[in-house]
Amino acid sequence: MSEKNDQVLLRVENLCQYFKTTKAVDDISFTIKKGEVFGLVGESGCGKTTTGRAIIKLYNITSGSIYFKDRRISAGTLSYRKAITDARKEMRTADPARKAELERFIAEQKELIRSARYDQKNADKLYEDVMSQEVDEKYKPLLAAASGEELWALQKKYAYEKRIAANQRFTTQIQMIFQDPIASLDPRMTVYETIAEGLVIRGEKDKAVIDEKVYRVLEMVGLVRDHASRYPHEFSGGQRQRIGVARAVVMEPELIIADEPVSALDVSIQAQVINLMNDLRHKLGLTILFIAHDLSVVKYFSDRIGVMYYGKLVEMASSDELFLHPIHPYTQSLLSAIPRPDPLFEKQRRRIKYDPLSAHDYSVDKPSFREVLPDHFVYCNDEEFAAYQRAYGGQAE
Ligand SMILES: Nc1ncnc2c1ncn2[C@@H]1O[C@H](COP(=O)(O)OP(=O)(O)OP(=O)(O)O)[C@@H](O)[C@H]1O
Ligand SMILES: [Mg+2]
Repeated sequence: MSEKNDQVLLRVENLCQYFKTTKAVDDISFTIKKGEVFGLVGESGCGKTTTGRAIIKLYNITSGSIYFKDRRISAGTLSYRKAITDARKEMRTADPARKAELERFIAEQKELIRSARYDQKNADKLYEDVMSQEVDEKYKPLLAAASGEELWALQKKYAYEKRIAANQRFTTQIQMIFQDPIASLDPRMTVYETIAEGLVIRGEKDKAVIDEKVYRVLEMVGLVRDHASRYPHEFSGGQRQRIGVARAVVMEPELIIADEPVSALDVSIQAQVINLMNDLRHKLGLTILFIAHDLSVVKYFSDRIGVMYYGKLVEMASSDELFLHPIHPYTQSLLSAIPRPDPLFEKQRRRIKYDPLSAHDYSVDKPSFREVLPDHFVYCNDEEFAAYQRAYGGQAE
C-alpha cells in the first residue's frame, strides 16, 4: 500500500445535481483522502458520471458543497432556498417570539446563498491569486539577492512561473479519464498534440519542457516515442485508453477521476489497463475517484467503496469491510452477481434480486445515510438501522 496520511483532498457535502425532473445525484456525501482510491459503483444511470462531472465544475450544482483542499470550489443553493420557503410558511402561524427567530434564520439562509454564489463563481479566481502570491513570495528574496546575469535568468523564470500561476484553475488539478476512449479523443489531433494540449492551455510554451513531459508520460503508460506522431484511429481500444491516461497524468493532477476507464474494452484488455493505473497510482502517489458499474473491477483497486443507487449513496465502507459485511440489499445483490473461480461456489451461487419496493417500507419511517458500524455507512431508516446493528453490531471489533 502506498504511503498515506489523513489529509482530506476532496469533500463532497450533500451534493445534489438535478436536471429538470431527474434527480441524477440526490444528496450524497463522501470524502477522499490524499493517496486514496475511492471506488464509486452502481448500475447504469445511477449518477456516477454526473458526480464526476459536478466535481470538475461542468455544472452549476443544484445543492450542497464541494471542497478541494479545504477550499469550496462549488456550491449550490437549493437547500437554502427550500429552508427559506419552509420558514416563511411557518411564519404565517408563528407567535411573535418564534417569528423573530424565523426572521433571523431567513437572514442567515440568505447570507449562505450569497456566499455559495460567490464561491461558485470565484473559486478559480481566488485560487489563481493564491498561486500567484506563492510565486511572488518565493521570488522576492531571490530577486533581491541576485544581480547581473543571474538576476536576468531569475527574472525570466519568475515571469514564466507567474504566467503558469495565472492560468491555474482548480480544474487543472483534477483530471478526468473518460468512459469512452474513442469519443473522448479528437481524431484530428496526433497523440503528441492530445497529450500536450492541457500543458499548452496551462501556459506552457517551452517546447523542450513539453517534449520532455510528453515523451516521459508516453513511456509511463506503456507506449513509445514513435506513437507520438500518430492519430487515435491507428490505435487499439486499450492503447487509446492509455493515451487517455497519459493525457490526464501529464498534468500532474492531485486528483484523477477515472470514469469507467475499462468498461468499453475487451475483458482481456481490461486487466492490462487496471494494472497500469494501479502501477501509476503507487509510482506517482495518485489520488483516484474510480467509477465502475461492476464491483469486481474496483474490489482490489479501491481503498474505500461507495455504492450508488438512483442518485443516492446506499452504502460506503472500506473495500475489505464492504465485501465482508455487505449490509444494504442492493450491495448484496451487486455482490451476488460476481462469479468466482470456484466450481462448488458457482454451483450454489444465487443471484439476489433487489427490489426497493419490497425491500423497504419508507412510507413513514424515512431513511438517511447512517454509520451502522465504525466507518461503515448505510442508507436506512430507524427500523433498519436497529436491525442492522443487531445483525452486524457484534461483529465490529
Ligand atoms: N445533461 C443531462 N441532462 C439531463 N439528464 C441527464 C444529464 N446527464 C445525465 N442525465 C441523467 O441523469 C441520470 C444519471 O446519469 P449518469 O450519466 O450520471 O449515470 P451513470 O451512473 O454514469 O451511468 P452509466 O453507467 O450508464 O455511465 C440519468 O438518468 C441520465 O439520463
Ligand atoms: Mg457514466
